[in-house]
Amino acid sequence: MTVPVRRPRRLRTTPAMRDMVAETRLDASDFILPMFVADGIDAAREIPSMPGQYQHTIDSLKAAVHEALDAGVRCVDLFGVPRDGDKDATGSVAWREDGILNRGVAALREEFGDEVIVMADTCLDEFTDHGHCGSLSEDRHGNTYVDNDATLPLYQAMAVAQAEAGAHIVSPSGMMDGQIRAIREALDSEGFEDVAIMAYSAKYASAFFGPFRDAVGSSLKGDRRTYQQDPANARESMLETQLDIEEGADIVMVKPALPYLDILHEVAASSPVPVAAYQVSGEYAMIHAAAANGWIDLDRVMMESLTSIKRAGADQILTYFAVDAARALARD
Ligand code: PBG
Repeated sequence: MTVPVRRPRRLRTTPAMRDMVAETRLDASDFILPMFVADGIDAAREIPSMPGQYQHTIDSLKAAVHEALDAGVRCVDLFGVPRDGDKDATGSVAWREDGILNRGVAALREEFGDEVIVMADTCLDEFTDHGHCGSLSEDRHGNTYVDNDATLPLYQAMAVAQAEAGAHIVSPSGMMDGQIRAIREALDSEGFEDVAIMAYSAKYASAFFGPFRDAVGSSLKGDRRTYQQDPANARESMLETQLDIEEGADIVMVKPALPYLDILHEVAASSPVPVAAYQVSGEYAMIHAAAANGWIDLDRVMMESLTSIKRAGADQILTYFAVDAARALARD
């Protein structure tokens, strides 16, 4: 009988031993909680496809951020849900001071000061009546397209409005070419040199965003394949992140997370700036749905998925599990 000489199992024998040799440790400070603030509602509404996540009023938003902070989560990423009647072709409510997202940012900044990092999503899709991330133009053949260069000044106005409302970080997620440079220039010229940019650099045209579109009441018909990336491609993620870093991104992001760990790993291996990953609405919904059926253990799959995202190279993780995961870590 030949017995093994090397026995990797030795280091797995006890919980203390496993803990000592663990290479990846999650911490509540890794997590960023995406949240939704809606106009024209008088009580928080649970999002059906995202159990435990809400469209918030300003008041319920503040209460939920207090809970997150108590659990140890210190960064939130805010999305706005305007009234349908406030949507228009350019999404102009996005840069109005009294627009819901800017009011939400201002309320959080007033309530929490610098204790919580307030990040705002800098993209027009929630605010346009066509649901696209930019403004539309017609080409010479009469076909409508999302107009990259006409959109950049709108992003500049939106980012400046978010900075004025008090955002510590703006996060452009629209995948227009040149958006990071345009936003950096606008922020700097308005005196917001200290407002950071988390760039959605490698963002795929993913069906995993489905529940999010419910969450924000998206008006989109069609898809975003002319500006978000093709899931078949890896190389262009290196180009996209490299461009964003050159243009001034302080943090780059890969999104979605779990189906794109190869991309995350490759970006993290060479990025000179922090790399975030976004565990998106569909990833969250799938885990909840399977757990609700009794097919998987919610807490264990939650922690395993987050550990895997961090192991692949994420420095920060945007996740709807932020509060639950932070509480789970505190229990251990
Ligand atoms: C665009 C945006 C989207 C998400 C974050 N920012 C939707 C999209 O690109 O269609 C998706 C987030 C998620 O699915 O959790 N503003």
